[in-house]
Amino acid sequence: MARKIVITSGKGGVGKTTVTANLGVQLAKNGYRVIVCDLDFGLNNIDVVLGVENLASFDVVDVVEGRCRPKQALVRHPRYPTLYSLASNRISERYVSPQAVRLILDSLAQRFDFILIDSPAGIDEGFHRAVACADEALLVTTPHISALRDGARVAGMLKSYRLQRVGLVVNMVRNDLVRRGELLKPEEIAETLKIPLTVVVPEEDRIFLDNITDRSRAFRILANFYTGGIAGAEGTKKGFFSGLIRALHK
Ligand SMILES: Nc1ncnc2c1ncn2[C@@H]1O[C@H](COP(=O)(O)OP(=O)(O)OP(=O)(O)O)[C@@H](O)[C@H]1O
Ligand SMILES: [Mg+2]
Repeated sequence: MARKIVITSGKGGVGKTTVTANLGVQLAKNGYRVIVCDLDFGLNNIDVVLGVENLASFDVVDVVEGRCRPKQALVRHPRYPTLYSLASNRISERYVSPQAVRLILDSLAQRFDFILIDSPAGIDEGFHRAVACADEALLVTTPHISALRDGARVAGMLKSYRLQRVGLVVNMVRNDLVRRGELLKPEEIAETLKIPLTVVVPEEDRIFLDNITDRSRAFRILANFYTGGIAGAEGTKKGFFSGLIRALHK
Protein backbone atom coordinates (compact mmCIF):
# COMPACT_ATOMS: atom_id res chain seq x y z
CA MET A 1 0.00 0.00 0.00
CA ALA A 2 1.51 3.32 -1.10
CA ARG A 3 2.55 5.92 1.44
CA LYS A 4 0.91 9.20 0.51
CA ILE A 5 3.14 12.18 1.17
CA VAL A 6 2.05 15.76 0.53
CA ILE A 7 4.74 18.35 -0.24
CA THR A 8 3.56 21.71 0.99
CA SER A 9 4.70 25.26 1.82
CA GLY A 10 3.38 28.57 3.08
CA LYS A 11 5.03 30.81 0.51
CA GLY A 12 5.06 30.10 -3.22
CA GLY A 13 8.22 29.47 -5.18
CA VAL A 14 10.19 27.86 -2.35
CA GLY A 15 10.75 24.57 -4.20
CA LYS A 16 7.79 22.23 -3.58
CA THR A 17 7.60 21.09 -7.19
CA THR A 18 11.39 20.71 -7.40
CA VAL A 19 11.42 18.59 -4.23
CA THR A 20 8.44 16.48 -5.34
CA ALA A 21 9.89 15.77 -8.80
CA ASN A 22 13.39 15.01 -7.54
CA LEU A 23 12.17 12.81 -4.70
CA GLY A 24 9.97 10.95 -7.18
CA VAL A 25 12.86 10.38 -9.58
CA GLN A 26 15.18 9.27 -6.79
CA LEU A 27 12.65 6.80 -5.36
CA ALA A 28 11.99 5.43 -8.85
CA LYS A 29 15.73 5.07 -9.45
CA ASN A 30 15.86 3.04 -6.23
CA GLY A 31 13.26 0.71 -7.73
CA TYR A 32 10.12 1.98 -6.01
CA ARG A 33 6.82 2.39 -7.81
CA VAL A 34 5.90 6.04 -7.51
CA ILE A 35 3.05 8.31 -8.59
CA VAL A 36 3.71 12.03 -8.61
CA CYS A 37 0.32 13.66 -8.31
CA ASP A 38 -0.04 17.34 -9.16
CA LEU A 39 -2.78 18.93 -7.06
CA ASP A 40 -1.70 22.51 -7.77
CA PHE A 41 -4.75 23.31 -9.90
CA GLY A 42 -4.26 26.13 -12.36
CA LEU A 43 -0.55 26.65 -11.66
CA ASN A 44 0.46 23.06 -12.26
CA ASN A 45 3.92 22.53 -13.69
CA ILE A 46 5.31 19.27 -12.37
CA ASP A 47 4.76 17.67 -15.78
CA VAL A 48 7.17 20.22 -17.23
CA VAL A 49 9.75 19.66 -14.49
CA LEU A 50 9.51 15.89 -15.05
CA GLY A 51 9.65 16.33 -18.84
CA VAL A 52 6.28 14.65 -19.46
CA GLU A 53 4.27 17.69 -20.56
CA ASN A 54 1.81 16.99 -23.37
CA LEU A 55 1.93 13.25 -22.69
CA ALA A 56 -1.21 13.12 -20.53
CA SER A 57 -4.56 12.52 -22.22
CA PHE A 58 -6.50 12.89 -18.94
CA ASP A 59 -6.05 14.71 -15.66
CA VAL A 60 -7.21 14.14 -12.12
CA VAL A 61 -10.48 16.03 -12.71
CA ASP A 62 -11.29 13.76 -15.66
CA VAL A 63 -11.03 10.86 -13.24
CA VAL A 64 -13.17 12.60 -10.58
CA GLU A 65 -15.82 13.42 -13.19
CA GLY A 66 -15.83 9.88 -14.61
CA ARG A 67 -14.34 10.52 -18.05
CA CYS A 68 -11.65 7.91 -17.48
CA ARG A 69 -10.47 5.35 -14.97
CA PRO A 70 -7.66 6.32 -12.54
CA LYS A 71 -5.14 4.08 -14.32
CA GLN A 72 -5.85 5.71 -17.68
CA ALA A 73 -4.83 9.11 -16.32
CA LEU A 74 -1.37 7.93 -15.29
CA VAL A 75 1.56 8.79 -17.54
CA ARG A 76 4.55 6.51 -17.33
CA HIS A 77 7.84 8.37 -17.38
CA PRO A 78 9.77 7.54 -20.57
CA ARG A 79 13.07 7.34 -18.69
CA TYR A 80 12.09 5.95 -15.28
CA PRO A 81 9.66 3.07 -15.86
CA THR A 82 8.41 2.89 -12.26
CA LEU A 83 7.64 6.62 -12.14
CA TYR A 84 4.15 7.78 -13.12
CA SER A 85 2.60 11.21 -13.15
CA LEU A 86 -1.01 12.17 -12.55
CA ALA A 87 -1.65 15.54 -14.12
CA SER A 88 -3.46 18.43 -12.52
CA ASN A 89 -6.33 20.42 -13.95
CA ARG A 90 -5.53 23.71 -15.65
CA ILE A 91 -8.59 25.49 -14.25
CA SER A 92 -7.82 26.74 -10.76
CA GLU A 93 -11.41 27.46 -9.69
CA ARG A 94 -12.63 23.96 -10.37
CA TYR A 95 -14.31 22.54 -7.26
CA VAL A 96 -13.10 19.06 -6.51
CA SER A 97 -13.68 17.65 -3.06
CA PRO A 98 -10.81 16.25 -1.00
CA GLN A 99 -12.83 13.04 -0.57
CA ALA A 100 -13.08 12.53 -4.35
CA VAL A 101 -9.31 12.84 -4.84
CA ARG A 102 -8.63 10.72 -1.80
CA LEU A 103 -10.78 7.91 -3.20
CA ILE A 104 -8.85 7.98 -6.47
CA LEU A 105 -5.47 7.92 -4.79
CA ASP A 106 -6.61 5.14 -2.47
CA SER A 107 -7.72 3.09 -5.47
CA LEU A 108 -4.24 3.49 -7.00
CA ALA A 109 -2.36 2.97 -3.75
CA GLN A 110 -2.50 -0.83 -3.88
CA ARG A 111 -0.11 -1.08 -6.81
CA PHE A 112 2.39 1.59 -5.75
CA ASP A 113 4.93 2.26 -3.01
CA PHE A 114 4.70 6.05 -2.87
CA ILE A 115 2.23 8.71 -3.95
CA LEU A 116 3.84 12.15 -3.78
CA ILE A 117 1.37 15.02 -3.84
CA ASP A 118 2.54 18.42 -5.06
CA SER A 119 0.30 21.01 -3.42
CA PRO A 120 -0.37 24.68 -4.02
CA ALA A 121 1.30 27.23 -1.72
CA GLY A 122 -0.68 28.70 1.15
CA ILE A 123 -3.60 27.46 3.20
CA ASP A 124 -6.56 27.80 0.87
CA GLU A 125 -8.91 25.14 -0.45
CA GLY A 126 -6.17 23.53 -2.59
CA PHE A 127 -3.97 23.08 0.47
CA HIS A 128 -6.78 21.36 2.39
CA ARG A 129 -7.57 19.10 -0.56
CA ALA A 130 -3.93 18.04 -0.92
CA VAL A 131 -3.27 17.49 2.79
CA ALA A 132 -6.55 15.64 3.34
CA CYS A 133 -5.40 13.06 0.76
CA ALA A 134 -2.09 12.36 2.53
CA ASP A 135 -0.84 10.31 5.47
CA GLU A 136 2.41 12.25 5.81
CA ALA A 137 3.61 15.75 4.98
CA LEU A 138 6.85 17.39 3.99
CA LEU A 139 7.00 21.13 4.59
CA VAL A 140 9.35 23.02 2.29
CA THR A 141 10.73 26.41 3.22
CA THR A 142 13.69 28.56 2.36
CA PRO A 143 15.67 30.28 5.13
CA HIS A 144 14.20 33.67 4.21
CA ILE A 145 12.02 35.45 6.75
CA SER A 146 8.92 35.75 4.53
CA ALA A 147 9.01 32.01 3.72
CA LEU A 148 9.50 31.16 7.39
CA ARG A 149 6.59 33.28 8.55
CA ASP A 150 4.23 31.62 6.05
CA GLY A 151 5.82 28.25 6.77
CA ALA A 152 5.01 28.67 10.47
CA ARG A 153 1.33 29.13 9.60
CA VAL A 154 1.33 25.95 7.53
CA ALA A 155 3.20 24.08 10.28
CA GLY A 156 0.41 25.11 12.65
CA MET A 157 -2.31 24.05 10.20
CA LEU A 158 -0.68 20.65 9.63
CA LYS A 159 -1.18 19.90 13.33
CA SER A 160 -4.95 19.82 12.79
CA TYR A 161 -4.65 16.86 10.38
CA ARG A 162 -4.09 13.25 11.32
CA LEU A 163 -0.65 12.92 9.79
CA GLN A 164 1.65 10.11 10.76
CA ARG A 165 4.78 12.11 10.13
CA VAL A 166 5.73 15.67 9.19
CA GLY A 167 9.21 16.39 7.83
CA LEU A 168 11.00 19.59 6.92
CA VAL A 169 13.06 20.50 3.85
CA VAL A 170 15.06 23.69 4.10
CA ASN A 171 15.73 24.58 0.48
CA MET A 172 17.93 27.13 -1.27
CA VAL A 173 20.43 27.29 1.57
CA ARG A 174 23.63 29.23 0.94
CA ASN A 175 26.26 28.09 3.38
CA ASP A 176 28.33 31.25 2.97
CA LEU A 177 25.36 33.34 4.15
CA VAL A 178 24.62 30.96 7.01
CA ARG A 179 28.26 31.15 8.12
CA ARG A 180 28.17 34.94 8.03
CA GLY A 181 25.02 34.90 10.15
CA GLU A 182 22.94 36.45 7.37
CA LEU A 183 20.59 33.45 7.20
CA LEU A 184 19.20 31.32 10.00
CA LYS A 185 20.78 27.90 10.41
CA PRO A 186 18.52 25.03 9.21
CA GLU A 187 18.52 23.63 12.78
CA GLU A 188 17.24 26.97 14.10
CA ILE A 189 14.52 26.94 11.45
CA ALA A 190 13.47 23.44 12.51
CA GLU A 191 13.33 24.60 16.11
CA THR A 192 11.22 27.63 15.20
CA LEU A 193 8.79 25.56 13.14
CA LYS A 194 8.84 22.69 15.67
CA ILE A 195 9.30 20.15 12.88
CA PRO A 196 12.29 17.79 12.77
CA LEU A 197 14.75 18.68 10.03
CA THR A 198 14.70 16.06 7.28
CA VAL A 199 17.13 17.50 4.76
CA VAL A 200 18.92 20.68 3.71
CA VAL A 201 19.06 21.44 -0.02
CA PRO A 202 21.71 23.94 -1.12
CA GLU A 203 20.90 26.72 -3.52
CA GLU A 204 22.33 25.96 -6.94
CA ASP A 205 22.34 28.03 -10.06
CA ARG A 206 20.48 25.55 -12.21
CA ILE A 207 18.31 22.68 -11.15
CA PHE A 208 18.47 19.68 -13.47
CA LEU A 209 16.83 16.39 -12.79
CA ASP A 210 19.42 13.73 -12.27
CA ASN A 211 22.79 15.50 -12.26
CA ILE A 212 25.46 14.89 -9.64
CA THR A 213 25.64 17.91 -7.38
CA ASP A 214 25.26 18.70 -3.69
CA ARG A 215 21.59 19.16 -4.40
CA SER A 216 21.16 15.72 -5.97
CA ARG A 217 22.97 14.29 -2.94
CA ALA A 218 20.36 16.02 -0.79
CA PHE A 219 17.55 14.32 -2.72
CA ARG A 220 19.23 10.95 -2.31
CA ILE A 221 19.32 11.57 1.43
CA LEU A 222 15.65 12.53 1.32
CA ALA A 223 14.72 9.33 -0.56
CA ASN A 224 16.72 7.28 1.94
CA PHE A 225 14.83 8.96 4.76
CA TYR A 226 11.64 7.41 3.38
CA THR A 227 13.07 4.02 2.51
CA GLY A 228 15.84 3.43 5.02
CA GLY A 229 18.20 3.14 2.07
CA ILE A 230 16.63 -0.11 0.96
CA ALA A 231 15.98 -0.68 -2.76
CA GLY A 232 12.43 -1.34 -3.95
CA ALA A 233 11.20 -4.34 -5.95
CA GLU A 234 12.64 -3.21 -9.29
CA GLY A 235 15.90 -2.13 -7.70
CA THR A 236 16.13 -5.46 -5.93
CA LYS A 237 15.68 -7.29 -9.21
CA LYS A 238 18.33 -5.20 -10.89
CA GLY A 239 20.85 -5.15 -8.10
CA PHE A 240 19.96 -7.18 -5.09
CA PHE A 241 23.46 -7.00 -3.65
CA SER A 242 23.85 -3.27 -4.08
CA GLY A 243 20.50 -2.82 -2.32
CA LEU A 244 21.65 -5.11 0.45
CA ILE A 245 24.96 -3.33 0.80
CA ARG A 246 23.12 0.01 0.96
CA ALA A 247 20.85 -1.39 3.66
CA LEU A 248 23.79 -2.72 5.67
CA HIS A 249 25.54 0.63 5.46
CA LYS A 250 22.56 2.43 7.01
N1 LIG B 1 17.82 24.48 -4.37
C1 LIG B 1 17.55 25.30 -5.38
N2 LIG B 1 18.51 26.08 -5.92
C2 LIG B 1 18.25 26.91 -6.96
N3 LIG B 1 17.04 27.07 -7.52
C3 LIG B 1 16.03 26.32 -7.02
C4 LIG B 1 16.22 25.41 -5.94
N4 LIG B 1 15.02 24.82 -5.66
C5 LIG B 1 14.14 25.34 -6.53
N5 LIG B 1 14.73 26.23 -7.34
C6 LIG B 1 14.11 27.03 -8.42
O1 LIG B 1 13.16 27.91 -7.82
C7 LIG B 1 12.02 28.07 -8.64
C8 LIG B 1 10.77 27.72 -7.86
O2 LIG B 1 10.80 26.34 -7.55
P1 LIG B 1 9.49 25.44 -7.58
O3 LIG B 1 8.69 25.68 -8.79
O4 LIG B 1 9.91 24.06 -7.26
O5 LIG B 1 8.73 26.08 -6.33
P2 LIG B 1 7.24 25.83 -5.85
O6 LIG B 1 7.26 25.94 -4.35
O7 LIG B 1 6.71 24.58 -6.43
O8 LIG B 1 6.49 27.09 -6.49
P3 LIG B 1 4.90 27.33 -6.57
O9 LIG B 1 4.48 27.74 -5.19
O10 LIG B 1 4.78 28.43 -7.58
O11 LIG B 1 4.27 26.04 -7.01
C9 LIG B 1 12.24 27.18 -9.86
O12 LIG B 1 12.76 27.98 -10.91
C10 LIG B 1 13.28 26.17 -9.39
O13 LIG B 1 14.09 25.67 -10.44
MG1 LIG C 1 4.96 24.25 -7.57
